[in-house]
Amino acid sequence: MLNLHKLHFGGDYNPEQWPKEVWQDDVRLMQKANVNLVSLGIFSWAKIERSEGEYHFEWLDEVMDLLHKGGINVDMATATASPPAWMALKYPEMLPINFDGVQLTHGGRQAYCAASPVYRDRAAKLVEKIAERYSKHPAVKMWHVNNEYGCHAPYCYCDTSKNAFVAWLKNKYSSLDELNASWGTDFWSQRYYNWEEIVVPKRTPDGTHPNPGQQLDFKRFSSDVTLELFKMERDIIKKYDTVNPVTTNFMSMKFTYAMDYFAWAKEVDFVSTDHYLAQHDELNHIDLAQMADLTRAFANGNQWLLMEHSSSAVNWQPRNYAKTPGQEKRNAMSFVARGSQGAMYFQWRQGQAGSERMHSSMVPHAGEDTRVYREVAELGALLAAHPEISEHANDKAKVAMVYDYEQFWAMMQANLPTEDLSYSETVATWYRALWELGIQVDFVPADSSSERLAEYKLVLMPMVHMLSEQEEKIFSDYAKNGGNLVVGYFSNITDRTLRVKLGGYGGRLVKELIGVYVEELYPLRPGQELTLSNGLKTKLWSELSRLNGAEMVASFAGSDVDGSVAIAKRTLGSSTAWYQGTELLLDSQKAFFAGIAEQLGIQSEGGNGVEITRRGPYRFEIDHNQNSVSITK
Ligand code: GLA
Repeated sequence: MLNLHKLHFGGDYNPEQWPKEVWQDDVRLMQKANVNLVSLGIFSWAKIERSEGEYHFEWLDEVMDLLHKGGINVDMATATASPPAWMALKYPEMLPINFDGVQLTHGGRQAYCAASPVYRDRAAKLVEKIAERYSKHPAVKMWHVNNEYGCHAPYCYCDTSKNAFVAWLKNKYSSLDELNASWGTDFWSQRYYNWEEIVVPKRTPDGTHPNPGQQLDFKRFSSDVTLELFKMERDIIKKYDTVNPVTTNFMSMKFTYAMDYFAWAKEVDFVSTDHYLAQHDELNHIDLAQMADLTRAFANGNQWLLMEHSSSAVNWQPRNYAKTPGQEKRNAMSFVARGSQGAMYFQWRQGQAGSERMHSSMVPHAGEDTRVYREVAELGALLAAHPEISEHANDKAKVAMVYDYEQFWAMMQANLPTEDLSYSETVATWYRALWELGIQVDFVPADSSSERLAEYKLVLMPMVHMLSEQEEKIFSDYAKNGGNLVVGYFSNITDRTLRVKLGGYGGRLVKELIGVYVEELYPLRPGQELTLSNGLKTKLWSELSRLNGAEMVASFAGSDVDGSVAIAKRTLGSSTAWYQGTELLLDSQKAFFAGIAEQLGIQSEGGNGVEITRRGPYRFEIDHNQNSVSITK
């Protein structure tokens, strides 16, 4: 089914922004840079459907033929990402309403409510036309549904969304009693006696926030209702094309969270993702590696593709730094080294107009005689020289780290012990520590099966706040049956409804399996750092706790909870389970993991700025200190 048996190289192509003469030059420059694929038509709705039902495809036919003649394949977009102005005017009810009850307007992009019947109907008709017209075109090699679903208006609070939310809840809960129990609505007089009483979790009176269970379910619903849009378009395409794979570009970035990509990944023919660096961050190359590894986890052993990244600066951060010479090659190759079937960009030619005119592209404003175009072409040549890389998947890691969007959502809520908690930062610190040690990691979802966990020597659980009884048992059994486990602070505090597990924080996993009794949480002050009894340094979090069968590794000192457990471990037959009851600073996290790796005999390779990975016989060495990339066989 999948035809990703080659390395893809190219980017988003927006020919509608340029006169025809430029199209010819585009193909010439694409050929020169070894471009073999472009994503076409992503934002073309207004150019294709100029008023309701009035379609214009002649310009797109011409572009398609030109590309095909030039040997460039097409990742055909469905053009539904940005509805045209006539639609907002004629059907204003399809515009989304935000948390504050304000209706958003046409003029940016993605201004639609995912539950809107009008949007769905118009999008379906457009996709039908496009799929019918281009499914047999020889240039088409894959389908690109919409674009970055959930990027700009992932949560809509209009009445249509409310009705869809209630329908979703009715499907999830067999009765209102069950919903009331799940959300704990006897708190603050929130009990519902009629489905009609339920609202979407909009802004509530100052100093209060919507019910936690309701908030969490609304995030689940929003991911699901948006996924329905993808499935609708995918199924239309499949009526016309049963050969070429259908994807939609995810956003695997440290700071994106709205869609549950583990769920989405089950619906696409192959996973594709976009990635942009947090440009101010000196360790952003490690976050990039983390997100490549995470995307590999979504793909779950299947092929995946980096659909977008930038050749240099972006335009949407407070300060948009250009990439340094050679940085782009290291960035792109890091993705390929971690499993991507190529490297694609946003976008081909830098726009002259519109809000993205200051965003880098493969062909910059200055043209082909530029550092950026030369480096892009060098990368194209490098990928073209190694097509066989695409035949090999990455070697499996020995270490797995749990990642779960629902934890992200839970940790974003208010009314937690400290607002300084950050799921993404904690995960990133654990990952950065391993990366700097040169230890490979595979991500796994929190609802992984015992079989999936059993493939790993060590499983890490950073801030896995919610676990169902069954999930808790799977992790416990993993450790009892020879797996090694590290459980981080504020983990297993609640079940999947955010109801606290009683009798000691961390539930049975922490209290019984590892043997630490946590009775009270003591978040630290901003800027406060502690030195633990073993010299490791920590911030943000401490707890009042004592040993309950575990062995002390490090206790809190110089704090309000001196002598309490900061790190403990327990030997369970042939395996060990650790509890880390605090947020270690990066160097200390590194030291802690280095000790564990040594005890378990987990090999490391590279580290300290050098990443080394393998895809079958290929060895990639990317040296971020020396600015070099090498591929050897
Ligand atoms: C996203 C979008 C692109 C473009 C880039 C800019 O990835 O998919 O259309 O806006 O951001 O970085």
